Amino acid sequence: MVEGLTIGRHSVPYPVIQGGMGVRVSGSRLAGHVALCGGIGLVAAAGLGLGCEDYNGKNFFAAERQGLLDELRKAYEIAPDGVIGVNAMVAVSNYDDVVLASCEGGAKVIVSGAGLPMNLPGLTADYPDVALVPIVSSVKAAELICRKWHKSFKRLPDAIVVEDPDTAGGHLGEKPELIGTGQYDQYATVRGVKSYLKEKWNLDVPVIAAGGVWDREDLQHALAQGADGVQMGTRFVVTEECDADDAFKQAYINCTKDDIGLIMSPAGLPGRAISANIEQVRQRDVDLDVYCPSGCLKKCAYKANRERFCIVHALERSRKGDMQTGLVFCGTNAYKADRIGTVKEVFEELFPQAERDAC
Ligand SMILES: Cc1cc2nc3c(=O)[nH]c(=O)nc-3n(C[C@H](O)[C@H](O)[C@H](O)COP(=O)(O)O)c2cc1C
Repeated sequence: MVEGLTIGRHSVPYPVIQGGMGVRVSGSRLAGHVALCGGIGLVAAAGLGLGCEDYNGKNFFAAERQGLLDELRKAYEIAPDGVIGVNAMVAVSNYDDVVLASCEGGAKVIVSGAGLPMNLPGLTADYPDVALVPIVSSVKAAELICRKWHKSFKRLPDAIVVEDPDTAGGHLGEKPELIGTGQYDQYATVRGVKSYLKEKWNLDVPVIAAGGVWDREDLQHALAQGADGVQMGTRFVVTEECDADDAFKQAYINCTKDDIGLIMSPAGLPGRAISANIEQVRQRDVDLDVYCPSGCLKKCAYKANRERFCIVHALERSRKGDMQTGLVFCGTNAYKADRIGTVKEVFEELFPQAERDAC
């Protein structure tokens, strides 16, 4: 029988979080339908301003806030009783505002990575029901966060996501030279975080494995290896409900294992993507002589001295279907996609009928 997931005051029947996928790849439609099916659906906050109706080219941060509030409202229209949360990246300039807007918009969970969310409990102090979930890639990072949260806010995480840099999509929390070397052990890290929480804090909260979970076998492996649940990104991209253009989903279906690689993001972090067109991504900004249009990231090599490319626009182009100059983030499993299904089908495959009846 399948065990559900309880994070803070919020419970779902299935131990699945849909990973936040920025620049509207996981907007209201995907998050709402995952929540409707009994998982936790996450709206990714980063880059929502660009596709927001109110965006006029100059009001990026106001549009980001409005875009996030709109997506949360629309996600709850799909799943009024679902557990819907926000993925908030520490690396964005408007992080504090994103967290506040998430709380105001009714997010039940905030999952936060791309940096260590050291001040998250302070920002959400007026919203004690909002569950707080840091993303880490090491036990050390979990330790730093717990110590700081306990000392400054008398609070500890409601769950922790352990993201595997060897398989996950998007920005990765590891040095590029250490990725894919075989040194990293995803489930040793999951178990390490779990025992750290238990031994140091007597805390038994879910530790969630993110990265490389595609099918039921992967899910069962993750649970057998000590994870309390999984966070899945890549698999949910190839669903009808995913908010990206069909061409984005088709890029997953068309790609081979060798097309997936690491790129260096202007944020100073490596990222996993379909890497074949990275020169065209870069060349587009050179040709158009684009300058930093929004200042979306706290630290950005493109903002500072036009190194690499403007990442928020590169991701926005792919999300809208420009496969030539758009950057397509993906996990190592993207090449396994062979069709566009539905979120319901993903849940039916992960949890066969007998298990679902038992819920
Ligand atoms: C297209 C795409 C965009 C992503 N964007 C974000 C993001 O904005 N913030 C974040 O914390 N993680 C992001 N991720 C990581 C996912 O949330 C998730 O943790 C990871 O992809 C899990 O691995 P999987 O794709 O193998 O399932 C992204 C992943 C993908 C594939």
